[in-house]
Amino acid sequence: MSANKAELPVLRIALLGAGVVGSEVARLLKDNEEDFAARVGAKFELVGVAVRDAKKDRAGIPANLITTDAEKLLDDNIDVVIELMGGIEPAKYLILRALKNGSSIVTANKALLAKYGAEIFAAAEANDADVYYEAAVAGAIPLLRPLRESLVGDKVRRILGIVNGTTNFILTKMDEEGSDYTEVLKEAQALGYAETDPTADVEGHDAAAKAAILASLAFHTRVTIDDVYCEGISKVTAADIKAAKDMGFVVKLLAVAELSDDEKGVVVRVHPAMVPKSHPLASVRLSFNAVFVEADAAGQVMFYGRGAGGAPTASAVLGDLVAVSRNKVSGRRGPGESVYAELAPLPISAAKTRYSINLKVADQPGVLATIANTFAKHDVSIQVVRQDGHGDAAFLLVRTHLATDKALSQTLAELKSLSAVSEVVGVMRVEGSAN
Ligand code: NAP
Ligand code: HSE
Repeated sequence: MSANKAELPVLRIALLGAGVVGSEVARLLKDNEEDFAARVGAKFELVGVAVRDAKKDRAGIPANLITTDAEKLLDDNIDVVIELMGGIEPAKYLILRALKNGSSIVTANKALLAKYGAEIFAAAEANDADVYYEAAVAGAIPLLRPLRESLVGDKVRRILGIVNGTTNFILTKMDEEGSDYTEVLKEAQALGYAETDPTADVEGHDAAAKAAILASLAFHTRVTIDDVYCEGISKVTAADIKAAKDMGFVVKLLAVAELSDDEKGVVVRVHPAMVPKSHPLASVRLSFNAVFVEADAAGQVMFYGRGAGGAPTASAVLGDLVAVSRNKVSGRRGPGESVYAELAPLPISAAKTRYSINLKVADQPGVLATIANTFAKHDVSIQVVRQDGHGDAAFLLVRTHLATDKALSQTLAELKSLSAVSEVVGVMRVEGSAN
């Protein structure tokens, strides 16, 4: 930090990455520089912007700021580094280097934090620096700071969220237009919602990284992406969506993190699930995100807004920039990583959930009893059973009460082996039901 003529100290800022989010951060930094100075009590000086390709047109960013030498930029007496390159390397190396230099970090890099958060937070602690990452989960929605600060006096039991806009866009279109997954994926790609390689979004990896970050904060426990059970939406069919719709449900890709009954463990999972139309998450459409938090004293709290996009994500990045800069100006640090609870990350088999199972069955006396017995044998209680069709096209739709995922998957395995069941047409977990 240095003082300038206007008497406000100057904070030297380095930006790593000027893509979808970084270019918006650079624009907003310039457009709002006077407000930032007033809010922080220091002037921001953007010292350099590191990119991969120096020849690309960067409207709004002075050419003399562009560099491909990120290391040299970081070593130039920087107060705050904003990392918006994404990916694991070189982002990890550069963040660790910046921390060693004493710079504070603002990042949106969920993939990096969900895998190597421990190393990065330890380096921040060792170097008395901040690492803020509000934009890493649910874009513009203020969510991590409320969990870390506003709800820190409460006991969070469960988080249920839609944290990936691409998959929510696809599932919304499938629900509202009756279209097939592949058809809507192409539309999402044409509109720029889904990437050319959509794997990280559609297979749930992006949501799993966000779920790990949310769970770590909510349960004061280190949860990495490797602890998260992950199933994407690429196998969800138009028939699954229609069956859900007929029963008064919508299909959403959910990130769920919950405390076990004995409060010694936490299960974190990402998978498609049927949500009742009356649940607030059911009305979250298109690329919007929403996160539902259940805490002992607060009850249910919901956060909603834009989870992606250049400007919305830049809003969260700049909020963090102001926060870490205020800390710099006052010579203190924000709260570091809190992992004192050391809960055990539990496998999916320990999760408590409900299944909805669609079976093609023989339409004969005794079939329903055999199927019901199979559920009973595994201590799984049936909530609703309905027959559709008859003769060679008879289907039983069974929705269960709450049971462990282990009991539900054992029931399913046994159902598959019954001669009365000719095909398991669809299986989906059900979340957000009252009973
Ligand atoms: P992006 O559009 O792909 O931009 C990445 C930027 O980083 C580009 O400017 C690129 O340079 C630069 N870069 C990449 N590798 C580099 C390297 N090895 N050396 C120097 N520069 C390098 O990415 P983005 O969408 O802005 O995402 C940035 C971060 O924000 C990611 O962590 C992402 O997960 C997170 N995020 C994004 C969104 C969103 O809506 N996009 C929402 C929430 C969080 P070139 O321009 O020269 O290629
Ligand atoms: N690809 C993500 C989404 C945005 O579709 O929500 C970045 O986290």
